Amino acid sequence: MLVVSFVLFALLGHAVSAPAFIPRDDSPSDTDLLLSCPGAPGSPNVERADKCTLVNIVNNPDTPVVSNVGNVQANCEGGTDPIMLTVGGSTTISSTTTANADVGVDLDGFSIGGGLSTASTSSTTQSNSTMITIPPGRQSVMTVSVLSHSQSGNVQVNYGDRVDDHFIWFTGAVITQVTPTNQLTFDVHETACGTDPLDLNNHS
Ligand SMILES: *[C@@H]1O[C@H](CO)[C@@H](O)[C@H](O)[C@H]1NC(C)=O
Repeated sequence: MLVVSFVLFALLGHAVSAPAFIPRDDSPSDTDLLLSCPGAPGSPNVERADKCTLVNIVNNPDTPVVSNVGNVQANCEGGTDPIMLTVGGSTTISSTTTANADVGVDLDGFSIGGGLSTASTSSTTQSNSTMITIPPGRQSVMTVSVLSHSQSGNVQVNYGDRVDDHFIWFTGAVITQVTPTNQLTFDVHETACGTDPLDLNNHS
């Protein structure tokens, strides 16, 4: 009997602490919270938020973001001579926002303030071109590597009216905003004909 009453006591202790939890069914999902941010499409389940703010911010190491600039030039017609062509053009590099968990929506364009990513820093357009020699059987594209700041955090969502009893909600999901700086390195990426010239991991 001693064992049984100990178990009962343990269960009772657990039950007393239980009401402190808010049942998950009563909270908006991370997807609903993020969809209600300014600039987002909106959610059928919650009203539009007044403001979304990155909180609990962690600064990640700067990271290079590489993309192609302009068109592919190729010497893939079966000739045996190298040819000289111009590669390049212009490209726009924008800040990106991603979630650590699957929230089922593309977060780019959602207005989430509080971090480094603001309207004035979120996108940069760069142009460059250069004459290059392309050997037979090869293809080339200009690339740009943009050093980018990276910040992660949760999102604080502020509503004008109570949503499920609260004016303020926080996402459990962690989002990461990657914001371009003006530190750029242009390069030319050359690969074998018949492979994907825009796959920058292709080193054929
Ligand atoms: C254009 O790219 C070349 C490398 O292909 C680089 O040397 C040059 O500085 C770049 N020009 C500008 C304006 O960034």
